[in-house]
Parts: sequence; C-alpha cells; structure tokens
Amino acid sequence: MTTQNTPSPESTKTWSGRFNEPVSELVKRYTASVFFDHRMAAQDIRGSLAHARMLARQGILSGDDLAAIERGMSQIADEIARGDFQWNLDDEDVHLNIEKRLIALIGDAGKRLHTGRSRNDQVATDIRLWLRETIDDILELIIVFQCRLLDVAEAHAATPMPGFTHLQVAQPVTFGHHLLAYYEMARRDFERFTDCRRRVNHLPLGAAALAGASYPIDRESVAAELGFDEVCRNSMDAVSDRDFAIEFCAAAALLMTHLSRLSEEIIFWMSPRVSFIDLADRFCTGSSIMPQKKNPDVPELVRGKTGRVNGHLMALLTLMKGQPLAYNKDNQEDKEPLFDTADTVIDTLRIYADMIGGIRVKPDGMRVALAQGHATATDLADYLVKKGLPFRDAHEAVARAVRAAEERGLDLSRLNLGELRTALTHVPGAAERLDEGALTAISIEGSLCARAHIGGTAPDAVRAAITRARDELGVQKGA
Ligand code: ARG
Repeated sequence: MTTQNTPSPESTKTWSGRFNEPVSELVKRYTASVFFDHRMAAQDIRGSLAHARMLARQGILSGDDLAAIERGMSQIADEIARGDFQWNLDDEDVHLNIEKRLIALIGDAGKRLHTGRSRNDQVATDIRLWLRETIDDILELIIVFQCRLLDVAEAHAATPMPGFTHLQVAQPVTFGHHLLAYYEMARRDFERFTDCRRRVNHLPLGAAALAGASYPIDRESVAAELGFDEVCRNSMDAVSDRDFAIEFCAAAALLMTHLSRLSEEIIFWMSPRVSFIDLADRFCTGSSIMPQKKNPDVPELVRGKTGRVNGHLMALLTLMKGQPLAYNKDNQEDKEPLFDTADTVIDTLRIYADMIGGIRVKPDGMRVALAQGHATATDLADYLVKKGLPFRDAHEAVARAVRAAEERGLDLSRLNLGELRTALTHVPGAAERLDEGALTAISIEGSLCARAHIGGTAPDAVRAAITRARDELGVQKGA
C-alpha cells in the first residue's frame, strides 16, 4: 500500500470543502481504515455497480454514465486483482479510494456514482456482503469437519474408552460415541451460523447517511441484484446497528469454545500418562531442549485462539453499547475484530478437519484405563435392579463390592461370581440375585451394548447415529 506522508496544504480530501486546514499526519493515520477495509474491495465494487444500475433504471443516471462506471469499475477490479491498485492513506477508506480512482478514470460520471448514497449505507452493505460470503465458507468447512468426525467415529464405533465425569473414570463409552458429541455441537454451530446469515442478508443501501434518499430509488431491485433477501426497513437502524456482526462473533465464539474443549481432550489423550491417541507429527512440534518431546501445539493454539475470538465478541459488544443513533465513526472499529474472528475460525476449521482425520487411536491405552476405575459398577447395580432389588439397595450393595475390590487392588470386573456374592452379603437380597448373567453385564462390551437406544453408546446405536448424520448432511461415507 502506498501512502503519501506529506499532507498537501490544500487538502484533496473528498469531504474537505468546509475545512480550513488539513488533518495532521497522526489524525490521518488514526482515522483511516484503508489498511484493513481494502479487503472488502470486491464487495464495494459490486455494491456500487448495483447502485449505479438502479440509478440508471430509475432515470437518475444516464445510460452513458452507467456504461462509463461499469467500464471504470471493471478496470479497477483488474488493477486490484493484479496488485497494481494504489491504495492511498489520504483517501481514508476502501470506499473513497475506489471512488477517487473511478473519477480519475472516467471523470464526471464517476462523480455521479455517489448520488443518493452515503458511505454509511455503503459500508454497512459491504460488510454484510462480505460476511455473507464468509459465513458460506464457514458452513462448508463445518461440514468437512463433521465428515471427518464421522469417519473416525465409524472406525471406532465399537472401541471402548472410559467416559469421564469430574475427570474420573465414570462408565465405558465408545470412542465413536465420544466424537459424536462433538458432531452434535458442530451441528448446532452450523444452525447458529445459518440463522445468523438470515439476518446478515438484509440490504442497507438506500438508507443513505441516515434519513434515506430524496431520489426515486428502487431498493428492492438493488437487493435482488445483490442477492439480499430483504431491504432493511428503517434507514437509521440500517446504517448504525452492527448486531449481525456481534451475532456472528457470538456464533464464532461458541464454535471455538467447542473446538477448544475438544483440543483440551486431545491434549489430555495425547499425554504419555494417558496415551489414548497420537496426533500426526505435522500437528506437533518438538522442544528445543528436551529431545523426547512431541507437543500438541495445534490443539493448544486452538485453545489459546479461542480467548482471542471471545475477546473480539466482547470488543464488538462494547463498541455498540454506548452509541446513539445513527452512524458513528466508532463503527469503523467493527472490522478488525470481525475479520480476525473469521480468519481464525476458517483457519481453525481447516486445520481441525485434517487433524481429526489423521488421528491415531490407541485402543490398548483406552482399555488399560477402563480396567482401573470400576467403570461398570453402575451396570452391576442395574443388574440387581432388573432382578428386583430397589435401586438404592443395589447402589449400596455395589458400593461395598467396589470397596472389597479396592482392598484387593482389583477392578470390580475382575471379581468372579463367588467373590462378587461374598462382597454383596452385607445388603439383604443382593447376593442371591446374582447369577452368571451379571458377569456379562459388568463386562465392558456388555455395558456398552446395553445402551442401544437413540443417543446411547452401544456400537450399533453409534453406527445408526452416523448413518443418520450422513443422511442429514447428504453425504456418503468418506465424503
Ligand atoms: N470507513 C468508514 C467505516 O468503516 C466508512 C463510513 C464513514 N462514514 C462517515 N460518515 N465518516 O465505518
């Protein structure tokens, strides 16, 4: 980006007519946004063209002027694409930079483009166009991430691992079932972005500075050309509120929060003390001092970047909260948090899909952990209940059996039928209800298979959930 560092005494700023002195260099830099808003150039040009075509249809602009504007904009788009466009700090933002260049290229026709429009409705339109495209990219990436989760979940629909509560071994689950929990979170994230997109997709143009335009404009036709579902219904609201951007950041913060939780688990699973999985080397780094280390940098950074996205949400909420109607320059500060949120989410989703797809599961490590926490104690209690013992008595009986197993340094599932009966004698009615079937019930596979309902962890239920998910996504296996 080229910048002119010496302010010219008779400032050439587009709005400088009423001013007696130019702004200082510092103020110029402080108030400019072209450093970051030039990334909305394509949307700015599309919005301008739709506006110009409407002006021509309505007889506000001549056909010749429109043709010149179309020609000029097409050249500008080429210059930007080639990297030849001279972005100029003196021209403040993406809108004025493009307009200035247009005027340089086509003269008076370029000066007529801004008829019935303000940068206030222009910038709101650009952001909405940009955000709509960004949401579409994110939605696609969520689906790719979901597909990779389903692939790994399918491969491990029957791989037992300990399910934790309070980070203590609780009950057996399958690794596939565990991953499907994240699939569900991603499904809701998808819904949130889809829902947010509906409110993003309203057209502000026509609101002009804040009060609307005094020309016979046709906003509906501009909306149709730009693919907006509706026009914003109140001109003051249209130029001022950024709630749609805040919603987007909230959806992004939740998505990142979900990925941060999964990252935390991956980091834990990968710890040599736990050893449930291994990540492909390309997602890890070594230590500059400890030769043995393989650190899960990518999931750690996802966890870290979640803080940054949460921060952007807070920044936008705070940006908005004190603003009276209508447009205020505060709103220029919406873009960097918004762009950074989108960039972070997009990079994170891309990297995550690949990382999950390449995860190496270590079923033996999971089995070892499962054999240590009396994970099927609840199944033994359930068994006694099914034989007629009240649940509270069954709970008490099994708690004593766990204590007996602990005393011998064994997992509950390692006791044989005789040992189990002895352990249960303290609770009347418990021991005599035990038979061979109890041993199946407290085996890992028995415990898993018993939970075959919708949402349960039984391998068949997991496979059914995967089939349903693929149907919903409209994808085939491996897609
Ligand atoms: N760069 C400005 C922004 O991002 C464009 C709108 C400027 N409007 C104005 N009245 N100064 O919000």
